[in-house]
Amino acid sequence: MSLFRTKSVEQSIADTDEPEFRLKKSLSALDLTVFGVGVVIGAGIFTLTGRAAHEVAGPAIVLSFVVAAIACGLAAMCYAEFASTVPVSGSAYTFSYASLGELFAWIIGWDLILEMFLGASVVAQGWSAYLGAFLGQLGIVLPPEVSYGGAIDLPAVLLVLVLGGLMTLGIKESLRVNLVLVAVKLFIVLFVIVAGLMFVNPANYQPFIPASEPTEAASGLTQPLLQFLSGLEPATFGVGGILAGAALVFFAYIGFDVVATTAEETKKPQRDMPIGIIASLVICTILYCAVALVVTGMVSYRDLDPAAALANAFVYHGQGWMATVISAGAVAGLTTVVLTLLIGATRIIFAMSRDGLLPQRLAKVHPRFRTPWVISIVVTLIVAVVAGVTPVGVLEEMVNIGTLSAFVLVSVGVIVLRRTRPDLKRGFRVPLSPVLPILSALICTYLMLNLSVETWLRFLIWLALGFVVYFAYSRRHARIGTGDFLDPSKPRVVAPPKR
Ligand code: ALA
Repeated sequence: MSLFRTKSVEQSIADTDEPEFRLKKSLSALDLTVFGVGVVIGAGIFTLTGRAAHEVAGPAIVLSFVVAAIACGLAAMCYAEFASTVPVSGSAYTFSYASLGELFAWIIGWDLILEMFLGASVVAQGWSAYLGAFLGQLGIVLPPEVSYGGAIDLPAVLLVLVLGGLMTLGIKESLRVNLVLVAVKLFIVLFVIVAGLMFVNPANYQPFIPASEPTEAASGLTQPLLQFLSGLEPATFGVGGILAGAALVFFAYIGFDVVATTAEETKKPQRDMPIGIIASLVICTILYCAVALVVTGMVSYRDLDPAAALANAFVYHGQGWMATVISAGAVAGLTTVVLTLLIGATRIIFAMSRDGLLPQRLAKVHPRFRTPWVISIVVTLIVAVVAGVTPVGVLEEMVNIGTLSAFVLVSVGVIVLRRTRPDLKRGFRVPLSPVLPILSALICTYLMLNLSVETWLRFLIWLALGFVVYFAYSRRHARIGTGDFLDPSKPRVVAPPKR
């Protein structure tokens, strides 16, 4: 059935060679790790840690980070296997086109668009909030109507426009800027850990897992789907709180999957992709657990500031200057996250347009910069508008559900591709397959069930919209269906560009 037609791995790789769609191969394993850490460490650790500890998990938030890391670690291995087998732009989307078929590929692509567009907008607003806090500590106050929370979030818009410009000029150049900002960010996170240790009071770890308590805040549409389905009384903290916390702080890990979107621009993807993906995840997990332990040790979870816990834990101990340094670091740190998510969004749309699922004209690569410039401009403008005038700051859970659903499909995809194409050369193989990929799919599904009912409703609406676009446009325009693909085994003849 055409819905489940797959695009062969050879065809995917051959497409990357068409001159009009060819990207520059310039990235090394180190570049990928920096890129990964650059996108992963962001609003999640700077803002969500405090909120999740304060509202749902208490000091046991560190266990939530561990649970989320296990889910991500398993998914990361599946991503690494795919990216080392199908080194083509588009990440999970391309992988599922090769294994699960077109409809699933479309759903994943659509989910990833949600993840990256919304993620970039959410983090741009977080950046703007921290900028306001930082300037405030210096005594500079921006007019409220054009700053975070106002009618137009001007700093967020300007940030997106500047980063979008950088991205259009070339990925290597963007990565150089990234390198400096990632170094600043790592320094700040280490600073929080080392400086914070001096203020840790072990009494704050009691009770480590606060007893489950009934709550009004998480009821109705805001309660986790699982709780809603099980009919239990709405509650927070306890073991349930650790899991709900894991579903929330999962946001902090999002981004290592974006590394896989640059596979096509990597010099030796078979070797470098697994290193880049897994190294970024390991580094972030260690840092996150350390930060979570230190911050909940500095201030009782009951008193943690849900908005800017990292900086305010230092204010709590009378260390205003340290809070200023941390806010400045957060501003630098969040910049790289927005940049990387913007790059990820363009690469997904690039892959989908090259396949004809979205208009092919979008996928043209600039002759000099060798970047998909049309898409870059479109993505930049849309994210700038969304970050500028909509209250997306509260939609992290939407980003999580989009990403988790992609993880589930990628995990299943690994098992399917092992069956259908055992012959392919795999630079990296998930150990103990199919046990670990199945476990990965199950844990990610479980975390999804711990997201709120309203997040599920919004997600279903997004999916429905995706189906409309697929059946109205993509299915009929897919190059795999129009026969517009060249046979990868024949000499290449370039088709004239479509008008
Ligand atoms: N992981 C990224 C962040 O925490 C999306 O900002």
